[in-house]
Amino acid sequence: MIFRNLLLIKLISCVSGTFVVNVTQTSYQAEENHNITLEWTFTTKPDTSSNSVNIFCNLINDHKDLVLFHLHDGVEVSESQDQQFSGRVQFDKDVLREGRIRLQLSRLRTEDSGLYLCEVKTDDGWSSDRCRLNVTAADHPEPQRPTVSPEPESQGWIGLYVGLGLTAAAVLLVTLCFALRRCFT
Ligand SMILES: *[C@@H]1O[C@H](CO)[C@@H](O)[C@H](O)[C@H]1NC(C)=O
Ligand SMILES: *[C@@H]1O[C@H](CO)[C@@H](O)[C@H](O)[C@H]1NC(C)=O
Ligand SMILES: *[C@@H]1O[C@H](CO)[C@@H](O)[C@H](O)[C@H]1NC(C)=O
Repeated sequence: MIFRNLLLIKLISCVSGTFVVNVTQTSYQAEENHNITLEWTFTTKPDTSSNSVNIFCNLINDHKDLVLFHLHDGVEVSESQDQQFSGRVQFDKDVLREGRIRLQLSRLRTEDSGLYLCEVKTDDGWSSDRCRLNVTAADHPEPQRPTVSPEPESQGWIGLYVGLGLTAAAVLLVTLCFALRRCFT
């Protein structure tokens, strides 16, 4: 429904064409679990109120079209957001008035990769722009093999050998004592 409205608005604003949305960067490269800030700018006039700003940002890739961020008349509509981004998007409301859309996406996943399209509508018009995000998998370091420790079984054997050695020494000592006693008596 909202999309159909935006489409209609787009057709209308195409005629005037003074309102512009730009990406600040067309392509982003990031690693899994890192954070990234996607940024768009749009035309503002001194009398542009934040309350008249509507934003729709979507992730479009091979198999899906997911809502990253939705702002309706200056108010964030978190219900629209897709579960994939739940709790991972931070919107900077302070810079909106300057015509900047800053969206920080944290704890990046490889499935966040794709085309990000932001559509913006204000009293001045409608426009959109897109950027690409490529999230590469983090190199999972090989788990360190624990240093080889003697197995309980071999520990038992060591104990047996030590015991046998001590016994032998004791027997030797006693024998020696008896021998010495016999010599002196
Ligand atoms: C958008 O980009 C064009 C061309 O680079 C530039 O002239 C214009 O000022 C930009 N507008 C905004 C709102 O960033
Ligand atoms: C990523 O963002 C989260 C939440 O905003 C923050 O707690 C964390 O410190 C950030 N990590 C990095 C590496 O910037
Ligand atoms: C994403 O980044 C990786 C590593 O730099 C690269 O090999 C791959 O081609 C990139 N994919 C796209 C769609 O740009």
